[in-house]
Amino acid sequence: MEYPNKILMTGSSTGRTKRGKRSTWNEKKRAGMSFVIVIAFFAVFGLIILTEIFMIDGKGRPSSNGMHHGGYNRLGESAPDYEDVKEEYSIEEAIFLKNNRFIKDIKQSKNMQISLAIPVAPESLDSRNSIGAIPWGALMPPSIERTLPPYPTDVTPSDGSWKIVNGTRFKFFVFSAFYDRRGGKLIRVIGATKTRGPEKVWCRLWYPVGPNNSTYRSSSVMARVKIIRENWNLKYSACFVLCPIQAPGLEIPHSVSIVSKIRSPPGNVLLLRNTDQDSGLQNRTNINQIPEKIGVCVKPFHFNYDSALYLLEFLEMNSLLGVSHFTFYNHTLGPRAACVLKHYMEEGLASANNATQDGTVQHATISMLPWDLRMRSQKEIRTEGLFAALNDCLYRSMYRFQYVALIDLDEFIVPRHNDTLKDLLRWLSLKVNNRNTGAYSFQNAFFYLQFADDSLMYERNVSNPALRSALITQRKTRRRLKLHPQKQRSKYICKPEAVVEAGNHFVWEFIPGKGSLNVPADAAILHHYRVCEFGGDDCIKTPSTVDRTAHKYSRRLTDRVELMYNKLKTPCNLLNLPPVPTKAPATRKKVFKVKDLQKPMKTKNSETIDDIKATKSK
Ligand SMILES: *[C@@H]1O[C@H](CO)[C@@H](O)[C@H](O)[C@H]1NC(C)=O
Ligand SMILES: *[C@@H]1O[C@H](CO)[C@@H](O)[C@H](O)[C@H]1NC(C)=O
Ligand SMILES: *[C@@H]1O[C@H](CO)[C@@H](O)[C@H](O)[C@H]1NC(C)=O
Ligand SMILES: *[C@@H]1O[C@H](CO)[C@@H](O)[C@H](O)[C@H]1NC(C)=O
Ligand SMILES: *[C@@H]1O[C@H](CO)[C@@H](O)[C@H](O)[C@H]1NC(C)=O
Ligand SMILES: *[C@@H]1O[C@H](CO)[C@@H](O)[C@H](O)[C@H]1NC(C)=O
Ligand SMILES: *[C@@H]1O[C@H](CO)[C@@H](O)[C@H](O)[C@H]1NC(C)=O
Ligand SMILES: *[C@@H]1O[C@H](CO)[C@@H](O)[C@H](O)[C@H]1NC(C)=O
Repeated sequence: MEYPNKILMTGSSTGRTKRGKRSTWNEKKRAGMSFVIVIAFFAVFGLIILTEIFMIDGKGRPSSNGMHHGGYNRLGESAPDYEDVKEEYSIEEAIFLKNNRFIKDIKQSKNMQISLAIPVAPESLDSRNSIGAIPWGALMPPSIERTLPPYPTDVTPSDGSWKIVNGTRFKFFVFSAFYDRRGGKLIRVIGATKTRGPEKVWCRLWYPVGPNNSTYRSSSVMARVKIIRENWNLKYSACFVLCPIQAPGLEIPHSVSIVSKIRSPPGNVLLLRNTDQDSGLQNRTNINQIPEKIGVCVKPFHFNYDSALYLLEFLEMNSLLGVSHFTFYNHTLGPRAACVLKHYMEEGLASANNATQDGTVQHATISMLPWDLRMRSQKEIRTEGLFAALNDCLYRSMYRFQYVALIDLDEFIVPRHNDTLKDLLRWLSLKVNNRNTGAYSFQNAFFYLQFADDSLMYERNVSNPALRSALITQRKTRRRLKLHPQKQRSKYICKPEAVVEAGNHFVWEFIPGKGSLNVPADAAILHHYRVCEFGGDDCIKTPSTVDRTAHKYSRRLTDRVELMYNKLKTPCNLLNLPPVPTKAPATRKKVFKVKDLQKPMKTKNSETIDDIKATKSK
């Protein structure tokens, strides 16, 4: 949208200058000249369009070595709203989505490997024109490798914190590095950089040598920057920096540095995860050995997130649902929420299935990574670069948990008939051909906070009425009747090893042969607790229904949160519980009173009857 406008504006101003000249010309020639001018006008217009196209695409254009990746950018450019592009990725009738892009990546890089190690004059390496001389996948020739800057002993190797790539024109940061053994061998670095025409970078791969592994030798390959598709048309995006490990004899390195110029001293050293040496993996790259656990990934905490009680509910509710691990990212965090998390990180959560088969007690665990990404949220990059976090979490969880749910703090995937998500996934895997399922997608249901509270919250004969009614999943049971269709605001649980690129509402890219299963709404939906999405209070006029599915956890959830709340109230300086609701809030009368009174009592559920009582007794 932005570009055509610009073109038109430039085009018309050029036209105006010509028209000014035209008026001084002789009357007779006018007719002939105006034709020429029209032609000239279109020629200039055309030229401008061409220039624009080249300026947009020039840098992202495949160089002579065939490093093509412009396609991803273009998709992002034309489609800032990803709720709308789903058609490209789904076929309404078929529940499985297939996407062969991954295999294409690998095939492409394999073809490139054929012409290995063409000798290159070292001085020409970084000049823009000759950069294509090293083919994708090929190693830097040893004669050059020897002359490159050595391993930076002054840089502390890192994993999971933002590091700068020195010497780029535009911001370029890297966060973590994962060995990707699926298909062709790659190192997949999570980064963030310019959306259009990302700058070229190199991978320095480090191998320990010497008596105590005290020094490192290097191999170097050219990297390919793959912009993560969901970028909302902003200047910067999350990206993958791909380092092929495909040259013959090339081993899996210990760590990797991303440098802008092959001769720049490396300013970052990323420890490589998901290798055979990765202690957390315990050699479990065979998918049958991955523990049947569910991990949860949450986008970075921001705006000094400090809803401590809500966080307690999120952790305990998901723990009841069978979640084993939470991965959080700390952009900005308030003192109370930080205190709660710190406590859980030290002690763990009591898991729903406390005792495992072998009788040991299991605790859900939490990890939190710093997220000091120096890009302005929503101006330069989408929501603190959440797509980098989601994909980091995807790869970080791979081979550690069989399932990963990518959800927000105001969202819960709640099974209707099953008690835990594990039971649900087990049941689903028996019901459908599970072999192709790479992700389970759940439809979104808004439980608008402006809807009236559940009438049960007025009852005082439960063990802790104040706490129970402070829990959003217990208090808010009225939801929009109509669910969003799949892929619009839906969330998913995926099998990380089947996914190449994770999105917010759906998986953008699976490994070949895997797809997404649309979970029937009767089996489970996404409970999404929030205010009206377009501002105001009008959303509560949409048809709604009372859905008390989350009340099946009422007792257990209240007990668990109560325990933790009482324990942490003083040390974490938690706020007092809000008072127990005693009467209907103002919006309730407006919405329900009149029409509910007119309708016969027997067609109404107990909640609205109570509502009426409550309003009448006032
Ligand atoms: C190797 O490490 C050991 C113990 O950490 C040390 O005693 C030894 O001097 C080291 N050797 C070299 C060559 O650095
Ligand atoms: C050196 O590193 C390799 C690979 O990372 C490891 O297998 C080996 O045990 C290390 N040797 C020493 C002496 O630390
Ligand atoms: C490169 O980065 C490191 C740390 O990331 C920094 O300390 C150093 O000053 C940078 N060097 C240059 C030349 O910018
Ligand atoms: C890890 O797995 C590889 C390949 O499956 C096998 O060769 C190796 O022996 C295993 N190592 C351990 C420690 O189990
Ligand atoms: C979150 O990040 C801030 C700023 O980087 C830091 O001061 C704070 O200690 C972190 N909190 C936790 C709980 O990690
Ligand atoms: C779970 O474990 C916690 C702490 O280890 C214990 O207090 C609690 O009673 C256990 N719950 C169940 C249901 O076994
Ligand atoms: C899960 O729900 C399904 C559908 O209602 C049911 O058939 C199945 O028995 C449930 N599984 C467990 C373990 O509760
Ligand atoms: C609380 O009281 C209501 C009636 O006022 C009753 O229906 C409900 O079963 C009671 N709940 C408990 C837990 O006793």
